[in-house]
Amino acid sequence: MSKNDKVSNSVIRRLPRYYRFLGELISEGVSKISSRELAERMNVTASQIRQDLNCFGGFGQQGYGYNVSELRSEIGEILGIDRDHPAVLIGAGNLGRALSVHLDYAKYGCRLCGIFDSSETLVGMRLGQLTVSPMSALAGFCEKYKPVIAILCIPKEAAPEVCEQLASLGIKAFWNFSHYDISLENISDVVIENVHLGDSLMALCYGISKNEKDKENSVPEENGNEEA
Ligand code: NAI
Repeated sequence: MSKNDKVSNSVIRRLPRYYRFLGELISEGVSKISSRELAERMNVTASQIRQDLNCFGGFGQQGYGYNVSELRSEIGEILGIDRDHPAVLIGAGNLGRALSVHLDYAKYGCRLCGIFDSSETLVGMRLGQLTVSPMSALAGFCEKYKPVIAILCIPKEAAPEVCEQLASLGIKAFWNFSHYDISLENISDVVIENVHLGDSLMALCYGISKNEKDKENSVPEENGNEEA
C-alpha cells in the first residue's frame, strides 16, 4: 500500500490549504508549530488538524508540534507538487488567456508548455513565454512533448470532441473549465477536475443570504409594540 492510499479523499482535498499555510509559515521563519496554533491560523479545529496530519505520521510530536518544513515537503510529495507535469491549454479566449499568464504553474507541480486554439485570429498570439498554436499542430506537439495535463477553456459544445482527441494523444488529467461533463469511454486512468467558479460564488451568496435571514430573525419585536 502506498502512502497516498492511506489518506482519504476528503483529507487530500484539504491538503492544498495546509500546503499553502505551511509555505506562509516558512516565509515568516516559523520552523515548528502546534496543532492549536495552526488551527487558529487556519480557522479550523485543532482536532481536525491532528486527525488530518496524523495520516502522515512522524511529523507531529507531543509537546513539540509539527516540523513545518518537513510536513510541507511531505504534503508536497503526496500532492505531486515536487514534480513537473507538462500541460497544454486549449482555448485561448478570455479565460484561457488569463490562466496562461496569471498562474504560476511551477508552484503547483505543472509546466504550461503549449497553448492551442481553433481561431485563426488567435493563432500566433504571444501569451507570456508561449505562442498560441493551431489545433492542427496538437497531435505532433503531444507526440514530441508528451503533456499529461490539459486545461480546457473551450465552449461546452466543443469539449466532447476535443476531450476524445486529447485522451487519444496521451492526456492523463483534465483541468476542466468548459462546463462539459467529461465522459471518456474505454479510458479508466484519466483524472478529471471540474472547475465551476460559479459554484464558489453561489456559496458566497448563500453565506450572505443566511446572514441576512439570521439578522431578520433576531430583530427585536419593537416595531410590533409601537403599532399596538
Ligand atoms: P471565449 O469565447 O473568450 O474563449 C473560448 C475559446 O475557445 C475561443 O478562443 C475559441 O476560439 C476557442 N475554441 C472554440 N472551439 C474550439 C475548439 N474546438 N478547439 C480549440 N479551441 C476552440 O470564452 P471564455 O470566456 O474564455 O470561456 C471559455 C469557456 O469557459 C466557456 O465555455 C465558458 O462558459 C467557460 N467558463 C467557465 C468558467 C468556470 O468557472 N468553469 C468561468 C468562465 C468561463
